[in-house]
Amino acid sequence: MTPGAIAASPERMRRLFDGAEDVLPLWIAEPYLGLAPEIETALQERAAAGWYGYEVRPETALGAFWSWMGTRHGWDGAELSTTVSPSVGTSIGVLIDRFTEPGQGVILQPPVFTDFKPLINRAGRTVVRNALQLTEAGYRMDLDDLAAKASVPENRLMILCNPHNPVGRVWSTEELSSVARICAEHDVVVVADEIHADLALPGFRFTPFARAAGGSGVAWAALHGPIKTFGLAGVCDTLLITDNTSIADAFRTESSRLHLTRNNVFNIAALEAAYTTDGSWLDGLLEQVAANVTLLRNGLPDGIGLIPPEGTYLAWLDFRRLGMDVPELAAWLASSAKLALSPGHWFGREGAGFARMTIAAPTRWIEEAVARVGRAVRRRPG
Ligand SMILES: Cc1ncc(COP(=O)(O)O)c(C=O)c1O
Repeated sequence: MTPGAIAASPERMRRLFDGAEDVLPLWIAEPYLGLAPEIETALQERAAAGWYGYEVRPETALGAFWSWMGTRHGWDGAELSTTVSPSVGTSIGVLIDRFTEPGQGVILQPPVFTDFKPLINRAGRTVVRNALQLTEAGYRMDLDDLAAKASVPENRLMILCNPHNPVGRVWSTEELSSVARICAEHDVVVVADEIHADLALPGFRFTPFARAAGGSGVAWAALHGPIKTFGLAGVCDTLLITDNTSIADAFRTESSRLHLTRNNVFNIAALEAAYTTDGSWLDGLLEQVAANVTLLRNGLPDGIGLIPPEGTYLAWLDFRRLGMDVPELAAWLASSAKLALSPGHWFGREGAGFARMTIAAPTRWIEEAVARVGRAVRRRPG
């Protein structure tokens, strides 16, 4: 079976992509590559054990996470609180609930990951847009606008995405420190979604928000886990990290109240196996992604732009020069280019005219995607 074939089932594809058949599925943010063999072995061994009852998470699992963080990112969590959470979305939902009141604002930096807005809206809170700016040098934060939005007393929380899905920025220490300073000044809690932390591409370095925020006094939580790095979203939990006692206590209280704490035996096996790999599988993945960026850069037809990612395995493609509106572009991608990409407007109105392509995929998939875009562009009238 092709990796990704289950999530990208034909029926789901038809529903999402205009009834299109034979489309290349590159919309879900997952590695469409064979997984790290150590993790597959750990899962197979766990399955063979024949005991699927309650299991206590060993201390070594969190130790493995922090040892990985130390090795890959030079980040030491000895002084921090680390709590298991079923998903990034769960952590964000709980923090919105506990640190904002109904009607209050949560700041986002669109175009941004699709789950944030519904989490805010379903909690009866308001989305406050601090839109990213596309400059000659790539996407930049609008810090003046952030300061203005943060200074509104009703805007109590910010969701920061670092590295940023979908635009692929790996925010610099200076950018993150500015966010920390602004949010500290206005008492805005920062929830740093760092689920793509391990995916900084060669030449770029992930900075934990925690490190950039040091000394600013901002209240923060950072969300981590192996789900994106190792393609384990169907198995693994995530982690909520903070140095703030009220955030740690609030999350633990809610987690216990809602009984979010029961372990899954495969999750325990996979999480520890992931963080005890020697990193060579991930290095290979990052090289493959970097090579695919080059393929796109050299192969996309004139008029289709690439915002080169600094991190994540997501390419943000610019179709604006084709002059199509949102429904037209979505239909053209699916029906003419035969590509199941995430149309940019899914990430907010700022994404109109763009589309996101997952490029953690074999070379031949990306070559095929480039060829399909080329043919579809050439078929366009005039
Ligand atoms: C930035 C970001 N956060 C969170 C998630 C999903 O996390 P979860 O499924 O644990 O809520 C994704 C998935 O693609 C993502 O890209």
